[in-house]
Amino acid sequence: MISSQTPFMDLRFHVQTYGCQMNKHDSERVFGMLESLGAEAVDSIEAADVVVFMTCCVREAADTRLFGQVASMKNLPLREGSPLSERLVAVGGCIGQRDGERLFESLPNLSVVFGTQNLASLPTLLQSAYSGAGKSAEVLERSTAFSSDLPTNREQPWAAWLPITVGCDNFCTYCIVPHVRGRERSRELDDIVAEARGYVEAGVKEITLLGQNVNSYGRDLYGEPRFAEVLEAVAATGIRRLRFATSHPKDLTDEVIAKFGTLPCLMPYLHLPAQAGSDDVLKRMNRKYTARHYLQLIEKVRAVRPDIALSTDIIVGFPGETADDFEATFNLVKSVGYSQVFTFIYSKREGTPAAKWDDDTPREVVQQRFDRLVEVVQESAYRNNQTDLGTEVEVLVEGTSKRDAGVLVGKSPKNQTVHAPLPAGFTIDQLAGGFVTVRVEEARTWYLRGTVVGIEEASA
Ligand code: 5AD
Ligand code: SF4
Repeated sequence: MISSQTPFMDLRFHVQTYGCQMNKHDSERVFGMLESLGAEAVDSIEAADVVVFMTCCVREAADTRLFGQVASMKNLPLREGSPLSERLVAVGGCIGQRDGERLFESLPNLSVVFGTQNLASLPTLLQSAYSGAGKSAEVLERSTAFSSDLPTNREQPWAAWLPITVGCDNFCTYCIVPHVRGRERSRELDDIVAEARGYVEAGVKEITLLGQNVNSYGRDLYGEPRFAEVLEAVAATGIRRLRFATSHPKDLTDEVIAKFGTLPCLMPYLHLPAQAGSDDVLKRMNRKYTARHYLQLIEKVRAVRPDIALSTDIIVGFPGETADDFEATFNLVKSVGYSQVFTFIYSKREGTPAAKWDDDTPREVVQQRFDRLVEVVQESAYRNNQTDLGTEVEVLVEGTSKRDAGVLVGKSPKNQTVHAPLPAGFTIDQLAGGFVTVRVEEARTWYLRGTVVGIEEASA
């Protein structure tokens, strides 16, 4: 590791995060590590001596953005008083893992590359670049370390992400994740519970369990999935709100579904990626379920928790998607009535099986399908929010609106964004991280608005 005489004391750093919650979690560890060594976090690239990119390569757009951004920094002057002669740029996350040292060729101003398993090495890598030892990269294939063991500085002190698995064994034919994040590895149950308990003791109100497919948690350790047990054990720590992401429909068991009925802390929100509604497309995606099976799961979930908010991921324009295939997807989305749908246009990823398949649907046709889907998604989001009009919802307060500092913003149990004027006599610092009850007076597509009618706890 690093000695206490390291030069981090004088450094200012900035972290730019792309992609999924796992990356956001890892970025919080980067903050934690560099701050614990004495470096100071700043919120712009211009003000930073060290810039760390936590990258994503799931779709091409994120790739292109990274390359553009790093290249454009070449001529950006350093701040006055910087101890460096040149800005240090580090690339981690999925692109770091995928491209390794090759990145130095395409991005000459890059100093450090680290893989998804090498977060703990970042300070050492930076230090060797800093001390003039040249560019350095570390990209391990496999490691048993979980980044949760590293120091953290959470973006919101009252909410924590807790990885229970990393990697993925599913090899959906469009997806690069198993190729860059490796095979699925689960964390010991005791470690998960110990971390959750620590968060509860530190005043954390909401834990989100993370994994590419949380439902298969434990298969590698215990020979069978034990996710329902994780939910039970984490709930027993006394956490107020519990969420998880992501669930693969083929592995969502009745036992897990039942927890939505028995664990009051388990929030009524489920993200269940369908990807498509055509059985032929699902088969070619290697998803291992049918549209019928998916819809049955939705029925089961709603039987246990009728008010649950559902969200999903959909890919439009998968190679060979016919008009009928798309219609099936459209109908599935329409019939479920999701609260939120993340819609993606298929993006070809080299190294995945689908990248080799004919992809001849014209771009305009794919775009039209995408637009039709977005429209139906907006309708159902609006309809779902309308059902909450006149009700009272419990809101975990996050901060104030960017547009109006007099309006508090937070999240409902169903993960809706809720706005309400700050109640008289309270500042946001007193309310952030606590719960208020809001009477809903306005329901829009992407948010609810109302009045605070109760304040449960205000931090000192
Ligand atoms: N193209 C488009 N979308 C993709 N996703 C994963 N890989 C691709 C790809 N190659 C989407 C899936 C997944 C989400 C995180 O990203 O819908 O659930
Ligand atoms: Fe990718 Fe499929 Fe694994 Fe999700 S389950 S990360 S889509 S391979």
